[in-house]
Amino acid sequence: MSSEDRVGEDSRNCIAVDLHDIQATILRHRPEPYFGTHVFLHINDAHGGREFLRRLAPHIGSAADWWKAGDAWIAVAISYPGLVALGVPGDSLRSFPEAFRAGMAARAEELHDYGANDPKNWERPFGSGQIHVQVSIVSPTEDKWHRTMETARQQYEGFSGVTVLLIQDFGAQPGSLNSLGYKDSIGQPAIEGSGVEPLPGQGRPIKAGEFILSYPGEAGVPLAMPQPDTLGRNGTYVGLRKYQSRVGAFNRFLRENGQNDEERELLAAKLVGRWRSGAPLTLAPAKDDAALGEDPHRNNDFTYANDPQGKQVPLGCHMRRMNPRDTKMPVLTDVNIHRLIRRSTTYGAPYDANTISELDDEGARGIYFLFISAKAMSTLEFLQQDWINDGTFMNLGSERDPLVGLQEERNTFTIPKEPVRRRIHDIETFNVLRGGEYLFMPSLSALKWLAGLNAEAAERPARHG
Ligand code: HEM
Repeated sequence: MSSEDRVGEDSRNCIAVDLHDIQATILRHRPEPYFGTHVFLHINDAHGGREFLRRLAPHIGSAADWWKAGDAWIAVAISYPGLVALGVPGDSLRSFPEAFRAGMAARAEELHDYGANDPKNWERPFGSGQIHVQVSIVSPTEDKWHRTMETARQQYEGFSGVTVLLIQDFGAQPGSLNSLGYKDSIGQPAIEGSGVEPLPGQGRPIKAGEFILSYPGEAGVPLAMPQPDTLGRNGTYVGLRKYQSRVGAFNRFLRENGQNDEERELLAAKLVGRWRSGAPLTLAPAKDDAALGEDPHRNNDFTYANDPQGKQVPLGCHMRRMNPRDTKMPVLTDVNIHRLIRRSTTYGAPYDANTISELDDEGARGIYFLFISAKAMSTLEFLQQDWINDGTFMNLGSERDPLVGLQEERNTFTIPKEPVRRRIHDIETFNVLRGGEYLFMPSLSALKWLAGLNAEAAERPARHG
């Protein structure tokens, strides 16, 4: 199904967000297949940084034509040290949330990024304060990827204002699978007023202010936003977490706990809540159904109402933790205030089920987990503390998320079933955190403001406000 199919006249009539000012990535789904590159840059001096943004700004995609599948686009986001390097006035810098200003590495304690995930083990330049700007090129074809990459390259190559720190290509693996062999990017929130028609099962549209600054959120009012308004309006935050997938450990775990391919695939499905094809266990509990996994009108159309104890979809599996939907939980929470727009990208060699050696645990492959939220920092801290690295909210004691939890104490994973539940011991950390950053994704007009095109107006609110 193409994106065009998801926008009727009705939905276009009720667009309430400023699509022309919002960056494309916020509303555009990751294409399938997808190709692209993340470029991480350092600003050498304020003038050079602003000049770079001025050159780049006309090439940044807006969300105006989000339904046009087939285009490649460029996105840009800036870290707090990047805003400082650009010479953003002090009053304005102070208006950003504390966790954003501190940076992801400094918030390791709040994020429970300990042990293997500790920032001291991260790959440089992550967590060093050197990353100022992230430019991402996303494309549905290889050809458009190269052409769009060339456009981006022309803005920074040979330009003394910025230095390239890291270039990371990414792309869909054969069959659109991620580094552990699963189809991903299926469960996404519908956004009220965006014109994007909700897919069956997506639930009621979430208030735009949860994802884009300056619009009312679920609480009925907009979140506090960076000042001046020109800078904050239509912007948002991006959380980036670079994970290295320990494919050898994952495959060994499946082999040790499954007698044959069938049992191993069922276990892989129980860890996530979906078969690797994307078919949800709620709708295909006993056997994979690849056609169901492929079909966006059916593959998310379910609740957990008929499975309160998790006999089909374990309460502690990744997907049910990350979006419990209608699961009755001992700790009362409004699940709609913890939703994320996910724009993750897979990098490195394709998943191989026969890879089992310990050497394969260190391979350079995994996921740049990228998510968008107007309160990215507090949402990530909540998820890491309560839903990923703990099990109390589902009556699972200290059990952790089997895909992204940090399994420091050789934890367990419980699969409820008749007549007795199965408890698997010695689950390992399958995805190790290798870096992370918080970034601000400005609107297109804020980008121009930052570039200094409107410098005089920019100074006024800063002086008085
Ligand atoms: C390497 C790391 C990760 C892997 C391999 C992974 C894999 C997956 C897979 C296979 C799915 C099911 C298909 C889909 O809906 O896309 C999924 C869903 C999801 N994941 Fe992850 N994930 C990873 C990291 C994370 C992290 C760090 C978070 C949150 C902080 C997260 C949040 C979610 C959410 C919100 C969903 C959708 C749940 C729903 O709406 O039903 N994932 N992930």
